[in-house]
Amino acid sequence: MVNVVIGAFYGDEGKGKIIDYLSKESKYAVRFSGGNNAGHTIEVDNHKYAFHLVPSGILNKNVKAIIGNGVVIDPKVLIEEINNLKENGYKVDNLYISNKAHLILPYHIELDEMQETIRKDKKIGTTKRGIGPAYCDKFERSGIRMEDFISKEFKTILKNNIENKNIIFKVYGFPEIDFDKVYKEYKEYAKIIKPYVCDTVTMLHKAIKNNEKILCEGAQATMLDIDFGSYPYVTSSNPTIGGAQTGTGIGAKYIDEVYGVIKAYSSKVGEGPFVTELKDEIGDKIRELGHEYGTTTKRPRRCGWLDIVALNYAIMINGLTGIAINHMDTIGKLDKIKLCVAYEYNGKREEYFSTNVDFLSKCTPIYEEFPGNFGDISKCKTFEELPINAQNYINRIEELTNTQVKFIGTGAGREDIIVR
Ligand code: GDP
Ligand code: IMO
Ligand code: MG
Repeated sequence: MVNVVIGAFYGDEGKGKIIDYLSKESKYAVRFSGGNNAGHTIEVDNHKYAFHLVPSGILNKNVKAIIGNGVVIDPKVLIEEINNLKENGYKVDNLYISNKAHLILPYHIELDEMQETIRKDKKIGTTKRGIGPAYCDKFERSGIRMEDFISKEFKTILKNNIENKNIIFKVYGFPEIDFDKVYKEYKEYAKIIKPYVCDTVTMLHKAIKNNEKILCEGAQATMLDIDFGSYPYVTSSNPTIGGAQTGTGIGAKYIDEVYGVIKAYSSKVGEGPFVTELKDEIGDKIRELGHEYGTTTKRPRRCGWLDIVALNYAIMINGLTGIAINHMDTIGKLDKIKLCVAYEYNGKREEYFSTNVDFLSKCTPIYEEFPGNFGDISKCKTFEELPINAQNYINRIEELTNTQVKFIGTGAGREDIIVR
């Protein structure tokens, strides 16, 4: 059985917490796209784990955690994460890294930063982790895969790559990359990472044959998808359902449930359109109540109401079979909650969604209003125990999306979840 967890909106919906829950009953948790632009937080006994590359499923010690071929890896960040886990009592010998995953090198990070500077007011607001340039090299066929990284050929490949990059850097007037410096540092990383590298495709298909449960762990989200998101304000991979297949080697016929994660409101980091954004004191209040500051870059997240038009698009693109809604505790602290049920475009009601930036910038939200004040819901363990205002809000989301809300987040802790 293969289940997939996908961000339905602009990222940071609380995927980490849902993955943590679902991986309890899984044998494998596999990250399939993105890199350390992701930040997945799980709170265990008041300790906050922030995962950037290692699958969040690793907190469940019976799980084999896989970094799939679709991921781009900054080895320095990965090693830091492995060490942090070890310091917290995790053995990490259950981590496996695909031999086909690509390497992020210092020049990718430099390029990411430089390109953002050059874009000036057209900047994307990237995490500056080198994600875009690393995927560019992958698709341009000059990337370095894990199997190259740990091989004897690494020195020659890297030398050749840096020579080529320096030709381009010279044209732009950027400082040249020092091969010796990079090689010296990265050959040490390669030694540390080598024992984890293997053929994860074969491993996953053996698991499928043995009827073992696999959880595909999405990073980023639908609106950040390179094809289906609000281009160019997107990331450089496919965080949607297709990415779960190409980023793991698991074909469509093996996939069972596809869960889309949302918050009871919306948030976004980086530039680009956000129809339900609240640029007022309610937006500020949500940011403070929900601690909406980036896990990776610490940037304040833009906050707004939940957008059903966008959610229905995510359901359509990913074929979502269920919804996980986090931060019901946060939204319940407000007196009134708004839910965007349609847009107004050119003076007309519009339920159609397009990630076209011009279209979105001309849409204004049409809201339904709900009473809030849920009170303390942290002790609620079933849907029926939730206050009626919270039930009504969720019922309406199900009605408008024709999709069941299967998981309800009632707090940041790993146990703060209602499963239906
Ligand atoms: P991810 O990238 O989708 O895994 O999400 P992040 O970890 O970046 O951001 C989600 C934030 O919300 C984290 O700080 C979580 O600890 C927190 N969180 C997740 N679910 C809930 C919830 O139901 N209630 C509250 N209060 N916090 C939550
Ligand atoms: P998780 O997995 C939120 C955003 C960046 C920027 C855009 C492009 O934690 O949900 P990139 O560095 O990928 O080239 O930046 O994508 N972004 C995220 N926003 N959560 C994430 O991951 C994100 N990963 C990338 O802020 O707008
Ligand atoms: Mg995050």
